[in-house]
Amino acid sequence: MAATSNPSFLLCLSLITTTIYFADSQSFIGVNYGQVADNLPPPSATANLLKSTSIGKLRLYNADPSIIKSLSNSGIGITIGAANGDIPILASNPNSATQWVNSNVLPYYPSSNITLITVGNEVMTSGDNALISNLLPAIQNVQNALNSASLGGKIKVSTVHSMAVLTQSDPPSSGSFDPNLKDTMKQMLEFLKDNKAPFTINPYPFFAYQSDPRSETLAFCLFQPNSGRVDSGNGKLYTNMFDAQVSWQFLFFSFFYVEMLTF
Ligand SMILES: *[C@@H]1O[C@H](CO)[C@@H](O)[C@H](O)[C@H]1NC(C)=O
Repeated sequence: MAATSNPSFLLCLSLITTTIYFADSQSFIGVNYGQVADNLPPPSATANLLKSTSIGKLRLYNADPSIIKSLSNSGIGITIGAANGDIPILASNPNSATQWVNSNVLPYYPSSNITLITVGNEVMTSGDNALISNLLPAIQNVQNALNSASLGGKIKVSTVHSMAVLTQSDPPSSGSFDPNLKDTMKQMLEFLKDNKAPFTINPYPFFAYQSDPRSETLAFCLFQPNSGRVDSGNGKLYTNMFDAQVSWQFLFFSFFYVEMLTF
């Protein structure tokens, strides 16, 4: 599997999608609900398991109605996703965005606490220029559809990025953004800022281990005791890969956001 996401197991810490908000920061535990697997428990059993934990947020890669329904009245914040294949029609036809919201959100909200719609997964690094150029228009149409349903601000719209939007991410302080994506990303960030929507990304500590399969790397990726790694750029000590992968985003944001404002 390449660095794209088709996670096959629920509750896998390494597959947590990180969410960075422009306006505020919060800490919570969230999990991804992947369905590319066999022998998955029924949604109701998964919902019961989730409700027995302090997990506050869940990301679906799609908008599976049985899962969305199973979480009704749980309070768990649910992210649902529109597929990459839906992007062209969502971008070109506002009615299809309305239809998407009508079918995937309105029947379940607010009893199922849908908080975010992600339009597309890792599109910016897909290499598909037509898809990339349709991404923001699709997001905008979904936002407009939510606004028309008086859900603007209650349910946010974003897209999920791959770590590869960075040309470099290790050490965190060296994080730099792929210059080829700069213009598109700038527009995307403006949209997110205007709508107080989160920037979301898939960090995969597993892939970091795969490319460096030493036992200390495994411990670093699995939150197990290890001597940690010092970021040679800023002297910070990281004791796990997740923190290190997430950290570049904060560094990147403080940098990029300032840069965006001063253009
Ligand atoms: C919905 O989820 C969000 C995010 O976790 C949370 O802040 C909010 O309180 C939840 N809403 C309800 C009604 O439980």
